Amino acid sequence: MHPSSIAIDSKLPQVGTTIFTVMSKLAADCGAINLSQGFPDFQADPALFDATWRAMRDGRNQYPPMAGVPELRSAIADKVAALYGADYDADSEITVTAGATQAIFTAIAAFVRSGDEVIVFEPVYDSYVPAIETVGGQPVYAALAFPDYRPDWEQVRALLSPRTRMIIINTPHNPTGSLLEADDLMELAALTRDTDIVVLADEVYEHIVFDAAHHQSVASHPELAARSIVVSSFGKTYHITGW
Ligand SMILES: Cc1ncc(COP(=O)(O)O)c(C=O)c1O
Repeated sequence: MHPSSIAIDSKLPQVGTTIFTVMSKLAADCGAINLSQGFPDFQADPALFDATWRAMRDGRNQYPPMAGVPELRSAIADKVAALYGADYDADSEITVTAGATQAIFTAIAAFVRSGDEVIVFEPVYDSYVPAIETVGGQPVYAALAFPDYRPDWEQVRALLSPRTRMIIINTPHNPTGSLLEADDLMELAALTRDTDIVVLADEVYEHIVFDAAHHQSVASHPELAARSIVVSSFGKTYHITGW
């Protein structure tokens, strides 16, 4: 390959190799148990493999509609209704993406304009901040503090400004496993009431909670649901993170 005469000027020159790549390689090199990346160490349901083969053999491996195959969107709407009692329209309110990471990036790109502020909670999943900065937004950090890693809503209130465009929540939380409770959702609803703030709810671990704990989806809170994008993940839910 010839050296390029074009200066490759990254929009995010400070972003290095992700912590997942670093830790997974270290775990492989050392023969360690890899707790650093959220993939399961057991197989997915064989019925899923059979269904995939069947669909491909039936010729269903060409471009689907942009928003996703209608039967799939309607199955998602049914699942969300059964789990959270929320009524989403499969045609206009559900979109299938190539993983939650793409959904998160797409939602940020769709709503955050240059100069907008986005509140995130630290420790923060590593794809949020680069996505915010790529579109010219500014991350604003709230802390999740030991021992329970729940938000301090007074702190969040103090961080709000006329430029706040989005609040990103992650429940169940990676990496602490903490959950937002019903009163957290009430606080968030009260904070965002009468604003045009969009809530991006990363709920990819919705089915992975500690014993006796209960995941509260923003989908089950009608006032919040009306201003929220809820992101789930086939990879996490059906143990197929490599697809
Ligand atoms: C909090 C969080 N959100 C999103 C994702 C990405 O999910 P997906 O594999 O569906 O892109 C991960 C993956 O580790 C995650 O931990």
